[in-house]
Amino acid sequence: MIPNCKLLLKKHWVNQTLKRKTLGINLSTNNKMGTYLITGANRGIGLEFCRQLQQRGDHVIAVCRKASPELFELDVSIETDVDLTSDRDVKRLVKKLDYQQLDVLINNAAIVERFSLENLDIDSIRRQFEVNAIAPLRLTHALLPNLKTGSKLILITSRMGSIDDNTSGGSYGYRMSKVALCMAGKSLSIDLKPKNIAVAILHPGLVKTRMTNFTPNGITPEQSVKGLIARIDQLNLENTGTFWHSNGEVLPW
Ligand SMILES: NC(=O)c1ccc[n+]([C@@H]2O[C@H](COP(=O)([O-])OP(=O)(O)OC[C@H]3O[C@@H](n4cnc5c(N)ncnc54)[C@H](OP(=O)(O)O)[C@@H]3O)[C@@H](O)[C@H]2O)c1
Repeated sequence: MIPNCKLLLKKHWVNQTLKRKTLGINLSTNNKMGTYLITGANRGIGLEFCRQLQQRGDHVIAVCRKASPELFELDVSIETDVDLTSDRDVKRLVKKLDYQQLDVLINNAAIVERFSLENLDIDSIRRQFEVNAIAPLRLTHALLPNLKTGSKLILITSRMGSIDDNTSGGSYGYRMSKVALCMAGKSLSIDLKPKNIAVAILHPGLVKTRMTNFTPNGITPEQSVKGLIARIDQLNLENTGTFWHSNGEVLPW
């Protein structure tokens, strides 16, 4: 990490500690303060994660390709120019983090591209696998040295990645890539258990974001992320590897 970044991070921690002390929050009994790294942080659910976590006093490292004005408004550390499908970009991010310990790594970034069976687009399916399934595993693997005993790993998937729940068909690239992500999450939960790292595979609900063209049927990012954070807070080694809806329901594979 470059010295300026270290200085900024230290300043952030001091500020947050002062803020909590001013609010009368007992630091020794409040265990919520941690360092969270979130991908896809410039908009949608990722941005809302940043907002709610920084509001409660956590330190947020917001990773994105290009920061948004809304992200700049938050009191978070921002890492831009990270295309998660690029080995080079991910290596650069890892170098910048310089073994900084993460309490929670949230793999949130994803894409959806819709094609019917008649107009199947193989390149699109491949792209969705790259972003939705391979990139989260690449980043997780690259950041394993930053995870410590007690850290948590989060994969934001979709119930569209549930085989049992599929009653409407279609969405080949999205569904297939999210199933693959769920499977990666299950394996990670087994492999990381001996290291005392718990893994959650989370569905945010149907949410009004750009991904869903801000569907009026969806819940707000605020509502979704409130539930997602509750799931992350309750995650432990006993329930590691569970596929949860943000509302707490356990989803079928
Ligand atoms: N919204 C829903 O109803 C819903 C339902 C189920 C699951 N989910 C899941 O929830 C998560 C967040 O979705 P959302 O609704 O917030 O979507 P969104 O508003 O479309 O945001 C997607 C985010 O992913 C980033 N991203 C995409 N490709 C990337 C790449 N190659 N490298 C780095 N960043 C990349 C985007 O960055 P750019 O701005 O640079 O493109 C953006 O920040 C996703 O995993 C999604 O599958 C959402």
